[in-house]
Amino acid sequence: MPFEEQAKQEILNKQLHSWVDQCKSYTSQGKVASYIPALARAEQKDLGISIIGLNGLHLSAGDFKAPFTLQSISKIFGLIVALEVHGSDYVFTRVGAEPTGDPFNSIARLETVQADKPFNPLINSGAITVCSLLPGSSSEEKLESIMKLLENILGRQPVINEEVYLSEMETGDRNRSLGYFLKDAGMIEGDVEETLTLYFKMCAIEVNCLDLSLIGVTLANNGSHPDSKEQLISTQVCRIIKTLMFTCGMYNASGKYAVQVGIPSKSGVSGGILAVASGNKLSPMPFGCGIGVYGPALDEYGNSIAGVELLKYVSEEWNAHVF
Ligand code: DON
Repeated sequence: MPFEEQAKQEILNKQLHSWVDQCKSYTSQGKVASYIPALARAEQKDLGISIIGLNGLHLSAGDFKAPFTLQSISKIFGLIVALEVHGSDYVFTRVGAEPTGDPFNSIARLETVQADKPFNPLINSGAITVCSLLPGSSSEEKLESIMKLLENILGRQPVINEEVYLSEMETGDRNRSLGYFLKDAGMIEGDVEETLTLYFKMCAIEVNCLDLSLIGVTLANNGSHPDSKEQLISTQVCRIIKTLMFTCGMYNASGKYAVQVGIPSKSGVSGGILAVASGNKLSPMPFGCGIGVYGPALDEYGNSIAGVELLKYVSEEWNAHVF
């Protein structure tokens, strides 16, 4: 890396470290998820971030190597596979593309507002529907396509955290009610338990901030891997994914988040946030970047409370807002 770039990277890394230090205090205002008992083991004070820029910058600070499970972040990988296999025209006959303003595990609109398909693929009912569309006759076969996609991006196949997976299998009655409601309403076919097993396994895939930033920069690069240049995801699918992350990715905080942060993002209840910035001439990463954040202390919406504050700094100080 040329000297000037090295110097720029060091300055930006120092800034990132100071923002992590400043946002640490927010971790005490949040609450680690416990409705999936295994998630309660997380260290409430953890906060980390990794950023990979398409201009070659690699930045990390805090607990960026701490492992956590994807949880709802995994929903975008199921959707990528479904869109690549079936095409968007078909997928959006089975699931909508509209934000709901409801909690991620709400069942309300399935019966009261729209009784033919879930509002969007990033709420639990939509993700369970997408799982039912994945190729394969078993949860293992269906999971293969997601693990292959992640292996192609990360250069290794991530592991499934068995403790978290089994913990949600034992306590996931809300999702079971969603799954059986969807089956009864004819919105999904096949074996509900198989579909839920796939969903619980997807949610338990273990990553860290570095992994998320590499996934994010691949999405920022419209599906082309930043190192191998291999086109891993089609440009059209990347566009759909980033749009839904922007409109629905932070659940019933998506509107406020779009105003305050304005970076297409997807959160998970383990405290991860995947963000994909498109870049501009005022940004230190003008061609775009991928961002991985981890902070298990959650706000009332189920998003990382300190992670959102950290992304506000990135948005404001590094001009990463999409507008
Ligand atoms: O289905 C659930 O409740 C969890 N496995 C995932 C929910 C989640 O990550 C919501 N995101 N904030």
